[in-house]
Amino acid sequence: MGCQNLILILIVSVLISSACCSSANDYIRPKPRQLLHFPWKYHTSSEPQQVHISLAGENHMRISWVTDDSYVPSIVEYGTSPGHYSAKSEGESTSYSYLLYKSGEIHHTVIGPLNPGTVYFYRCGGEGPEFQLRTPPAKLPITYAIAGDLGQTGWTKSTLDHIDQCKYDMHLLPGDLSYANYMQRRWDTFGELVQPLASQRPWMVTEGNHEKEYIPLVKDSFQSYNARWKMPFKESGSSSNLYYSFEAAGVHVLMLGSYTDCDEYSDQYGWLKADLAKVDRKRTPWLLALFHVPWYNSNVAHQGEGDGMMSAMEPLLHAAGVDIMFAGHVHAYERSKRVFSGNSDRCGAVHITIGDGGNSEGLARRYKNPNPEWSVFREASFGHGELKIVNSSHAFWSWHRNDDDEAVKSDEIWITSLASSGCLADKAHEFRKILMGP
Ligand SMILES: [Fe+2]
Repeated sequence: MGCQNLILILIVSVLISSACCSSANDYIRPKPRQLLHFPWKYHTSSEPQQVHISLAGENHMRISWVTDDSYVPSIVEYGTSPGHYSAKSEGESTSYSYLLYKSGEIHHTVIGPLNPGTVYFYRCGGEGPEFQLRTPPAKLPITYAIAGDLGQTGWTKSTLDHIDQCKYDMHLLPGDLSYANYMQRRWDTFGELVQPLASQRPWMVTEGNHEKEYIPLVKDSFQSYNARWKMPFKESGSSSNLYYSFEAAGVHVLMLGSYTDCDEYSDQYGWLKADLAKVDRKRTPWLLALFHVPWYNSNVAHQGEGDGMMSAMEPLLHAAGVDIMFAGHVHAYERSKRVFSGNSDRCGAVHITIGDGGNSEGLARRYKNPNPEWSVFREASFGHGELKIVNSSHAFWSWHRNDDDEAVKSDEIWITSLASSGCLADKAHEFRKILMGP
């Protein structure tokens, strides 16, 4: 074992991850599947690696990739026919050091304007293989694949294979991506693992505790995550890559940060109020929110860790009429009724915990009993979710368990939007009151 690894293990062993108002727990996870082995591959120093894409404002897409060579231009050529690139964009690149590790050159290039629901062929850095992506549709329906806490194990591969079989427009990831856990090379292997999917459909992510990689007095939090997984925070008026929003096909999606300040005087809260004030439910009848630490969780694991964020933000998100909130962190699946302030509420949000992507820590099998009145379905299995928003009033949610490596649909439900229920009119006064507050 190298000196760097020993130092890292010591650091990991003494650091306790803390959420925006979290508490420790004594949960012991069962055995996971093996970490995947990534054999060494030859590639030229300018060859694009770890290609992934994300939305970057209206009708634009950010292409991100890594090269060994820092002199490779951050250009992306693209067009709607294979091998014929009618347009070209130039972006920027960065790199970072982490103890003895030095990253490759990380390129971020925004392309567009792009037509909705269209396949584009693209090439990174002026050479190398051609990739293709499909932009989200302009109008409903739209389908999201959703899985958090992915990691890079045999279970992760199973989850990704199942998502790959699904006809979806975008991947939503509520935190905990690579489980690099300070081993920076694992960010590279995670990028390699997800490239086949993440180079084709936008991956919209928010941060989990495993993205922090904080070393007191030595390293700030989220250095690797922010350098590699740049999200459209500037495009949505946010000052931090840790929280932002985006819109696609009649849906406004809030990507919130469980690991940054969230009280009513915080930047995140101020940004959230301003962002929600601009939402037009006639144009985007559906409102979704994602964050890492669940607020409604009847698993023994991570009990109470989301309480601080929940007490700070739930009144605002409820008044704004969020339809569904997705979280990860707990390595299991759970779906609630519409709920607010701890109780069923026909105008509240459906909460779904989907931290079941397949990471190396295994499943969270122990549940509190009896299960709370608001909890509809809970199961400790790896899997993924699919949300098909069909029209302004109806969406179909299904959860697919990785059962013996075959995706088995285990939970499904039609969800009716708050915009079609009359609830938004009931909440309008409360929403205005909160917006006028501090
Ligand atoms: Fe987590």
